[in-house]
Amino acid sequence: MISREFDLGKERALRVGVVGAGVMGTNHGRVLAGLPGIVLVGIVDPLPDHRDRASELIGCPTFATLDELLDAGVDAVTIAAPTHLHHDVAIACIDRGIHVLVEKPVASTVQEGREIVAAAKRAGVTLMVGHVERFNPAVAAIKQAIEGEDILSIGITRVGPFPPRMSNVGVVIDLAVHDIDLIRWFTESEIIDVQPQLSSAIAEREDIALLQFRTASGVLAHINTNWLTPFKARNVTIATRGKYVQGDLLTRQVTECFGFQPDGSYSMRHLPVGHDEPLRAELIAFVDSVRSGGPAAVTGEEGVASLEIAIKCLESRAVPAAATFRKAPRRAAG
Ligand SMILES: NC(=O)c1ccc[n+]([C@@H]2O[C@H](COP(=O)([O-])OP(=O)(O)OC[C@H]3O[C@@H](n4cnc5c(N)ncnc54)[C@H](O)[C@@H]3O)[C@@H](O)[C@H]2O)c1
Repeated sequence: MISREFDLGKERALRVGVVGAGVMGTNHGRVLAGLPGIVLVGIVDPLPDHRDRASELIGCPTFATLDELLDAGVDAVTIAAPTHLHHDVAIACIDRGIHVLVEKPVASTVQEGREIVAAAKRAGVTLMVGHVERFNPAVAAIKQAIEGEDILSIGITRVGPFPPRMSNVGVVIDLAVHDIDLIRWFTESEIIDVQPQLSSAIAEREDIALLQFRTASGVLAHINTNWLTPFKARNVTIATRGKYVQGDLLTRQVTECFGFQPDGSYSMRHLPVGHDEPLRAELIAFVDSVRSGGPAAVTGEEGVASLEIAIKCLESRAVPAAATFRKAPRRAAG
């Protein structure tokens, strides 16, 4: 591997490729193409239609195979291929000394995730996991508001309609893993107890999940997630000993209640929230880490820890499908 200092000095642009030209990969390509100090070498996808769409939207080269992209010469890749391919694609890149940002969830299994982490350590490359919600300015404002506070409980709602494309994962791996990461990040503590309730009303996999957690630091947290709500909602509430913080991650409104008085009165204020596009902030953080050699903003280990909790929720699945109780499952709209 060429040394980081020599190869990635500020003098020359960083050559970055994207693997996967689906929904997320096209977004990665669009954002990377607009970042200073970056050359978007191209996007890989086996599907000609997806390559055409990416090259029309972004105006960058496309490749049918990973080898073609790697032969074109890249310092770093972002991986937005389907999750079951993350492991093999990440290892192939890491083994060639290429820095990797891999979309969430880091891999299909904890073992695969650990193998990616170990390979990156061996190769001395940056490995970051795309838990993009951490880069949502509303989430950053919440994190700042609870700094130094004694957190008591966290509630997160992430609901919406059924996704248009049928995926091979349920809401826990697709959606709740975002919030498991947020709970671990907000509390800076590991989840030590999980109490999941899962149900499937439409999909084969769970499409409703009510997940309760306890962290090592004693925080109680719950996630309410489903694909059965006609509109998207993403809300976070955090109770600390001194504050009650509420954030809407979509409208990016964050308020805090504080100054609780014995008579029940309190003060309330809206907190300032930035306007950054989360994916742009995430990719800038990745590039900064590649250039500096400093730790990634979301490490591989953190990605594996969040995946491990999500999988634990699925393993302790105790409740039969909702269809067992209903005469017939609801029909999917999408
Ligand atoms: N961070 C987030 O908020 C977020 C949101 C959505 C998806 N994701 C993650 O991003 C990844 C992709 O999800 P998506 O919704 O974009 O899926 P998608 O199905 O829209 O895109 C996946 C793309 O990968 C391509 N592909 C298949 N095999 C490939 C291969 N061998 N090499 C390169 N490309 C290949 C497919 O043709 C498709 O174009 C998943 O891991 C998903 O969990 C993250």
